[in-house]
This record gives sequence, structure tokens and C-alpha cells, in this order.
Amino acid sequence: MTQQELRGLFPQLKRTVYGKPLVYLDNAATSLRPQPVIDCWNDISANRTANLHRAVHLVATEATEAYEQARADVAKFINASDNQEVVFTSGATHALNVIAFSLGEAIVGSGDEIIVGEAEHHSNLVPWQMLCARKGAVLKRLQVDDSGRLKVEDLPSLIGPHTKIVAIAHVSNVLGLVNPVSEVADICHRHGCVLVVDGAQGIVHQKVDVQVLGCDFYAFSGHKMYAAPGTGVLWGRKALLEQMPPMFGGGEMIESVSWESSTYAPLPRKFEAGTQNISGTPTLSPAIALMGQMPECEDVKEFVYSSLLAESGVRLFGTTPDLGKKVPVFSFAVDGAHHEDLALILDKMGIAVRSGQMCAEPLMDRFGVTGLLRASFAPYNTLQDAEYFISSLRKSIKMLQ
Ligand SMILES: Cc1ncc(COP(=O)(O)O)c(C=O)c1O
Repeated sequence: MTQQELRGLFPQLKRTVYGKPLVYLDNAATSLRPQPVIDCWNDISANRTANLHRAVHLVATEATEAYEQARADVAKFINASDNQEVVFTSGATHALNVIAFSLGEAIVGSGDEIIVGEAEHHSNLVPWQMLCARKGAVLKRLQVDDSGRLKVEDLPSLIGPHTKIVAIAHVSNVLGLVNPVSEVADICHRHGCVLVVDGAQGIVHQKVDVQVLGCDFYAFSGHKMYAAPGTGVLWGRKALLEQMPPMFGGGEMIESVSWESSTYAPLPRKFEAGTQNISGTPTLSPAIALMGQMPECEDVKEFVYSSLLAESGVRLFGTTPDLGKKVPVFSFAVDGAHHEDLALILDKMGIAVRSGQMCAEPLMDRFGVTGLLRASFAPYNTLQDAEYFISSLRKSIKMLQ
């Protein structure tokens, strides 16, 4: 598929803001929706709505089939060894909270340790803090260096006899750097720890094969990978998921209920209590199908990276000698200009970028900044978009200095 054909599938790319064509560079926050995803959502909402896994009528069967087809498509997409390992959630945050709670209940006790990367999104930090507070466990930090690279070489000495879990992102939402998950998985498993990976950004830009990555859990959101908002995936190894108690109790997650107690349904439904996202979750199927046809956008990445590095007064975080280990997510500070002012000026030029702490406050502290400006690209962003962004950024900086 050519880039122009791809762009034609995203209705929002046709809109203008302040009379200018929209250049959407906030893809790491959420991607745009393509027509096949919109059509899928509309079709189920208009024609195939019924609750899932319950009734025997035809519409319920069709709705359930679409939902379970999405599970099979996700399992194949990430090379899960069993569809039962794919639990649907409302997003990465929901998935990470379930993992922290349920895995924590299963294997974490007082005095145990959990190691979390320093560049993590709050979604992969706060649930671990909550677990530590609940259990009397200790949170330890795996630091990043000045460029933002995770210091994986520090991990073996950070892991102690009481370390139970290590949690890192596949790709940082601020730095765009790809962490060496399989290397981390080897270290974790040699020391008897479980590795949880936040794949919210990784799933968008990397070919994810959970067997090759070697992690024990992988969590991601549908809305960042072109599917409907309110959808997400918790993938976990079956043996671990089976050991873990559910976080939520309610309809459809049970096997039997008496007044005194309940037994739980087999995987994955043990973790899917209550009415699920009937119209949204099936949109993962067309999103996955489209991702398989998207063109590469290496030229855009190389252009933006080298332009920002060369720009005087711009401090880019997440630098690397090997651009193959970075996705097109660029966060930077500009000397003498506040990130939010720049974002507001760029907006008036038709460019949507993110400014602020990007839900990674400890990382901002590490870099000694109050916030950053972030431009994040998707395969539908053209080289012209990138050039327009760089020239508009230059203009905006001049206006403020
Ligand atoms: C790395 C990372 N983890 C977790 C999340 C949370 O995702 P969601 O808000 O879709 O649950 C995000 C969202 O920006 C993210 O970038």
C-alpha cells in the first residue's frame, strides 16, 4: 500500500484546523482511526449488538464471534501460544493494573522487591507503587543514562534474593527508544523474576512476537494502534495467569456462584468481568489487518531526528547511535521557549503536538525539565509533514526569543 492510499483511509487527515490542513503529530498519545475500523464499529453498533457469551440468539452469536475473532487475530499478531492467553481490557492502563494487582496477590509479599524502569509511563509505575504500599514491598528503580538509554547492565546487581517482578516499557513514550526486552527477559529468568512489559508504544512500531521477546506479560492499548478507544490487551503466560486471582468479580467471570463463595471461569474470562466492549474490541481485527500493509517511514524518522539534532537551542532526549533502536517519537526542550507556548503556536499553524510531562514525571525530574515538546509520527505522516513541522518549529522559536 502506498502512503497516499494509506492516507485516503483516514478521514481526519482531510480536516483543517484554523484554516490549515491538519498535520497530526500526536500519534503516541492516540492514533487516528482508519475507515475499516470506523466501519467495523458502526456495523456492530448498527447491526450486530447483543451482549457477549450469554444468549443463544443469532445476534448474540454474531457479536460473540466478532469479539472472539479479534482475540484470535491478536493472538496471531503477537504470536501468543494460545488464544486463552489474550485477555481483553479497556487499554494498557487497565491491563497493567490487573497484572500488578493479580500477580501481586499471587507472588508478592512483605519485604519483596519490584524493579521498575526510570522512564516508565505512570501506568507502569503507579500500579506498582500501589502494590508495594499494599503488601509492604519495596520499589527499586532501574535508571536511564543522560541520553535516556535504560541501563540494563545495572539490572543483575539490582536484582536481589527478594526481587519478584521487573517492569519496563518495550518503547518509551517520551524517548522513543526501544528497550532490549529479550536481554532483560534472560536476566530476569536467570534470577527467577517475572518480566512485565508495557507494550503501549512497542506494539505500534515493532514486530511483536512474545515468544521471541521472552517476557511474561505484554500490555497494550487499541487506540494507539488505530483501533477503537476503550480497547486493550493483557497478554500473559498461561501458567502465570492461571496462578493469579482475578481483580474484578462479576458477571461472566465465574464458573459457579453460591451464597458462600464462587469459583472462577477458565482463562481468559476469569479476567473479563462484566459487559465487555462489544463494538470496540472487534475493531482490533481491521486495525491489525491494516498494520500489516502500512508502508515504512524510515525517511521521515531520519529527517526529523537529524534536523532536531542539528537545530541550535533544541535539546533532544532519547538519542542513539543506532536509529534502528528508536521509533519516530521525538521529545525535546527548546532553550528560552516554554514547551506549551510552542505547542500553542504550532497548533495555530495546523500542527498537533504534545507538550508537558507526558505522564512520566520522574523522567522529567531525571532530566531537570518541567516538561517537553513531543512530535510523534505515524506511517500516514509524509516527508512534507515533517519538513513543514521543522520549518514551523523554527518560526515558532523565533517568535518566542
Ligand atoms: C508507554 C505507555 N504506557 C502506557 C500508556 C497508557 O495507555 P492508555 O492510556 O491507553 O491506557 C501509554 C499512553 O500514552 C504509554 O505511552
